[in-house]
Amino acid sequence: MAAAAPALTDYDLLLDIVKRRASVRRLKADPIPDGYIERILEMARWAMSGANSQPWEFIVVNDAQVKKDLFQAYVEYNQDFIYWMEQQREFELRHPSYQLTHDEAVQRQRLDQGWSQAPAVIAVLGDGRRQWGTVMGAMTYDRNQTHLTDGLANAETLVHLAAKALGLSTQHVTIHVPDPFKRILGVPDLIRLHDLIPIGYADVEPMTGVRRELDEYVHHDRYEMSKYMTNEQVIEYLYSLRKKTVPKYRQSYAGKDK
Ligand SMILES: Cc1cc2nc3c(=O)[nH]c(=O)nc-3n(C[C@H](O)[C@H](O)[C@H](O)COP(=O)(O)O)c2cc1C
Repeated sequence: MAAAAPALTDYDLLLDIVKRRASVRRLKADPIPDGYIERILEMARWAMSGANSQPWEFIVVNDAQVKKDLFQAYVEYNQDFIYWMEQQREFELRHPSYQLTHDEAVQRQRLDQGWSQAPAVIAVLGDGRRQWGTVMGAMTYDRNQTHLTDGLANAETLVHLAAKALGLSTQHVTIHVPDPFKRILGVPDLIRLHDLIPIGYADVEPMTGVRRELDEYVHHDRYEMSKYMTNEQVIEYLYSLRKKTVPKYRQSYAGKDK
């Protein structure tokens, strides 16, 4: 007997939350109600992970000074590093945030206080010993990522969605240079500091997400070569993507009227 189709209402509800979630790079300092962070992390607890190793750990940062120190490290090390890396590219191909370096409102938000004023910042950590110990091939051959980073990404997705479901907004802050952040947070050497997730109430109205159409990359039965991008097409795609995402990034930092 064929399995019963899932209730449409569950799907609609989930899709609605997924589509309404958007990266918000300007959060209000307003406090989050008691218990919300625990509810968000309860959702992350149920994430999938290789061999169910559950490699994640979280540091919930509420202390204003620690948040400030983290943000200062972010500007000094992370943003500086990425800024100079992005200088190697044609202007229109640079990461959207680094095409907005002449926009005062965006720069103020990116460099002055940024996410340090969010009421909570969750540092996502991973313990590779727990993950790699469970699957001998977890540092998957011929792939750049590992079961560790895959598991952490799954948990993070649920953090972002749970926050949205509670009326909050989030940003995914990649940490490219982890050591300064680990020192501030006292993270042991063997533990990976993966990303930071500031959480709070949105201070800007996010724009609708930019996504490719499904039929551009869904293949049926075999890889459809008509959908394979040549190297030139990849570059064209990046130009067209940037055109669409730069305004969205701008809005997420500064809003329309700021
Ligand atoms: C692996 C990964 C790294 C990301 N790094 C950052 C980041 O460092 N800073 C940031 O503001 N957003 C970051 N993002 C968020 C993306 O920019 C964002 O998800 C994408 O532009 C789509 O926009 P949306 O989240 O508003 O739908 C990251 C997302 C992922 C999955």
